[in-house]
Amino acid sequence: MDSEFDSPKRRVYGRRLGRPLKGARMAALETLLPSLSVSPETLKGKIDLPTLFGRPYEDYRLEIGFGDGEHLAALMERFPGTGFLGAEPYINGMSSLLKIVAERGHENIRVLMDDALFLVQALPDECLSTIYILNPDPWPKTRHHKRRIVNAENLDEFARVLNPGGRLVLATDVDELAGWMVAQTSVHPAFHWTARSKKDWETPPAEWIETRFARKGQAAGRRQTFLVFEKVMRGSERGLIFP
Ligand SMILES: C[S@@+](CC[C@H](N)C(=O)[O-])C[C@H]1O[C@@H](n2cnc3c(N)ncnc32)[C@H](O)[C@@H]1O
Repeated sequence: MDSEFDSPKRRVYGRRLGRPLKGARMAALETLLPSLSVSPETLKGKIDLPTLFGRPYEDYRLEIGFGDGEHLAALMERFPGTGFLGAEPYINGMSSLLKIVAERGHENIRVLMDDALFLVQALPDECLSTIYILNPDPWPKTRHHKRRIVNAENLDEFARVLNPGGRLVLATDVDELAGWMVAQTSVHPAFHWTARSKKDWETPPAEWIETRFARKGQAAGRRQTFLVFEKVMRGSERGLIFP
């Protein structure tokens, strides 16, 4: 399926539709997506988050590629004072999240069923406290590495929209991808890797919520790596000129 936002510069790789949708998932998609989705019109300008959510929240967080939405749904429950943005082009994943939202009546969520970068590009500077990217597609072939979501160009945008001190939280059970994400993010002047020792990337952060995807990986003997980066504070503290 082509995206209404597809452009020569951007496209979504990977699947958008899996099993046919029915029942509560289809109903949730039909009833909630129109009201919770960030509209194409809104994406053309810079988004005002309190206006988008219909009220201000204490802080705002984004999850990119939320899959079935378990992690995002648990966060919404845990942090009712936070406004959550979620981007997922896979319709079955979106319907799964919206089914949970319908059951629990969460109001602190807005979504985009497309490439997260369309949403990120429309966000104002320094508006997010956290970006989560959990188990991003690994694109193992060298010629596909440019499709990986954690890359220099996207990191510029993540840095722009994160508050100073904001966090970029990454996880994967693919060791080669973990190495790639560390290499890409560590050389970016806006990010500081918080890990001090091996234990820090082998141990989930304090508030961690485990997903089905991660449990399946563990059952198959794969180990998760947890990578937490902080956007460096503005100014010369680290001798940097960003932003
Ligand atoms: C391997 S799955 C992981 C799902 C979930 N984060 C988890 O840990 O269970 C990767 C997800 O990223 C989504 N994805 C891929 N490219 C994306 C993009 N450009 N923007 C938003 N989501 C994307 C895919 O549709 C897929 O659901």
